[in-house]
Amino acid sequence: MVNLEVKLKDMILKNPVMTASGTFGYGEEFEDFIDISQLGGILVKGTTRHHREGNPYPRMAETPSGMLNAVGLQNKGVEYFCNNIYPRINHYDTNILVNVSGSVIEDYVETAAMINELDKIPAIELNISCPNVKEGGMAFGTSCASAASVVRAVRKVYKKHLMVKLSPNVTDIAEIAKAVEAEGADSVSLINTLLGMAIDSETRRPLLSTITGGLSGPCVKPVALRMVWQVAQAVNIPVVGLGGIMNAKDAIEFILAGATAIQIGTANFIDPQVSVKIVEGIKDYMIRHQVSDINDLIGAINLK
Ligand SMILES: Cc1cc2nc3c(=O)[nH]c(=O)nc-3n(C[C@H](O)[C@H](O)[C@H](O)COP(=O)(O)O)c2cc1C
Repeated sequence: MVNLEVKLKDMILKNPVMTASGTFGYGEEFEDFIDISQLGGILVKGTTRHHREGNPYPRMAETPSGMLNAVGLQNKGVEYFCNNIYPRINHYDTNILVNVSGSVIEDYVETAAMINELDKIPAIELNISCPNVKEGGMAFGTSCASAASVVRAVRKVYKKHLMVKLSPNVTDIAEIAKAVEAEGADSVSLINTLLGMAIDSETRRPLLSTITGGLSGPCVKPVALRMVWQVAQAVNIPVVGLGGIMNAKDAIEFILAGATAIQIGTANFIDPQVSVKIVEGIKDYMIRHQVSDINDLIGAINLK
């Protein structure tokens, strides 16, 4: 038997595999394909204080080894989540984390305060890194001062585990990570999407209505891995790694770079069973390498 259990501060994950926000709906969409209780946790869709329509279509485009999206945080708002979605999903035998997004600080604070009241939600993931909304979003995650200010305000009202999702669209992500750690973040997750664009040369038009959007998938993995490695060395709180993880081998690389847990995003669109396959693949790797405890692999990259 191998031990797959990891801890994000006081939050216990039965294994390090979680699904990434915006790519797994509310979990319900995947119930026909996998047993959700097999996962360490799920991150539900970006949730905002008010209902949001999202951006106009087209808002997804395939790119070499990845995709661009500009969904723009489409959701029915936090009140709808609390009253209608939470009662449907709170029986899942795994950690349910709500990805909280906003335009101004008060949005984050209000939304976090409402989620704080939900018994079966042990944590939120504060999204200060969305590149697809005009106001707020990524703007908060690209300077130490603004990242710190939103975390400080939310920390006052949110009493459970506070994970902060960082933007890769910065010069020094480790500095932002240190700034949010100093304001009381319990963990950081990275990376959100990289700002990108695609053009159809025949029509001479951009492929997305918003012209630019968020790049994800295998093409971002080397950037994500590098950032996870840098951040893991800079902070004392746990790091959750994501960006282009398609299989167990990718997941192990993030863990070796210093991630305590990982999230699977774009890969869910290709294979809805990929997350549980990755749990199995991690187990196989551990047996093959005679590692009995997953915690022994965290940050165990050999640099000599
Ligand atoms: C269609 C789509 C929607 C997304 N929506 C959100 C969101 O609501 N909140 C968020 O923090 N990240 C969102 N993301 C970013 C992912 O959670 C993840 O950070 C990113 O895609 C990188 O991981 P991946 O390469 O495994 O997909 C979204 C990504 C995609 C592709």
